[in-house]
Amino acid sequence: MSHSIQQYIQGKLKQRKEENNFRSLRIVKGLIDFYSNDYLGLARNIKLRQRIELELAVNGLEYIGSTGSRLLSGNNEYAESLEKFLAEFYGSESALLINSGFDANYGLLSALPYRGDAIIYDELVHASIHDGMRSGKANSVSFAHNNLVELEERLTSSVGLKYVVVESVYSMDGDFAPLKEIAALCKKYDAGLIVDEAHATGVFGKAGRGRIAELQLEKNCVARVNTFGKAMGAHGAVILCSEDLKNFLINYCRPFIFSTALPFHSLAAIRCAHEYLQVTEERREKIFQLIALFKKQFRHNPKLSLIESSSPIQSILVAGNENVKQFAQQIQQSGLDVRPIVYPTVAKGKERIRICLHSFNTEEEVIKLATVINSL
Ligand SMILES: Cc1ncc(COP(=O)(O)O)c(C=O)c1O
Repeated sequence: MSHSIQQYIQGKLKQRKEENNFRSLRIVKGLIDFYSNDYLGLARNIKLRQRIELELAVNGLEYIGSTGSRLLSGNNEYAESLEKFLAEFYGSESALLINSGFDANYGLLSALPYRGDAIIYDELVHASIHDGMRSGKANSVSFAHNNLVELEERLTSSVGLKYVVVESVYSMDGDFAPLKEIAALCKKYDAGLIVDEAHATGVFGKAGRGRIAELQLEKNCVARVNTFGKAMGAHGAVILCSEDLKNFLINYCRPFIFSTALPFHSLAAIRCAHEYLQVTEERREKIFQLIALFKKQFRHNPKLSLIESSSPIQSILVAGNENVKQFAQQIQQSGLDVRPIVYPTVAKGKERIRICLHSFNTEEEVIKLATVINSL
């Protein structure tokens, strides 16, 4: 390798270490999971796995990989029928499968809003939305998190076609977007609403259809992004939209056009996980019980900065990269796996322990976690 390139790489790594935000891969086993996005435990569910295996056997696995982009050799009847199924399930006119939630947000935001258009986004939206906006040609402006007054100001002062982008459940704070009010503002100012449902899919709404379905706002959205790598226990994503927008994306969405399509086993996992959702009501109820139990444990701890949230994502602010890392380590020493979220993933001063509650966690585990946190 060129010496100067190597020096550049080493310099950047040193900088991360000095700033205490060096990321590295780890494999941790044997601790109780309070950090994965497997909210319903579907990624580890034996019955679902057997169902997927049966689906693969019944449909005959001709190819291991999809062999190409959907526009070339990667399309098939199974993918098309899955899209119809997903459109119906989520109450959408149409649906376009895409390889990941990241690709969906990135592809949609870089393709649809055009030069002279305005994207107005909540300041806490996911990195994939930022990257999509950055690579597109529209103007983008943020509004303070969940601040409807600021959103309306931005809508009033923007020109061109207007898009509002939010997450229905925020990935780091776990709180909800006020979707009804946001949808009403979009209607008033003729703006298109785009909602990332990554952390709502599988958890909220009837049989896990998400917050938009729960609030019956399906017709108020230009597009919804539902992802399958979290509560669905699988991988991939779908953009729920009109037939016209689907065709637009097939023509202009670069991660869709220029990437090998999801393989059959991923499609089968997505289909089976959705069918399985019908029998997961108890799991959803259990999560909501655990959320209430968890929050109750901190009622008498005024020192603790727990971000208000009614979702399985419960974050405790511990400012400073070093502080939050130490806090996480102390919890891990009790056999409970939580992870620190450090700057620059979140803003400076907003570092936190991001706790994910799951249907497979027990009440005893949740009380133990809260007891350890309260003792720190
Ligand atoms: C809010 C949000 N949107 C999109 C994504 C990306 O989804 P995927 O993991 O399927 O690429 C994530 C994942 O971290 C997320 O939290």
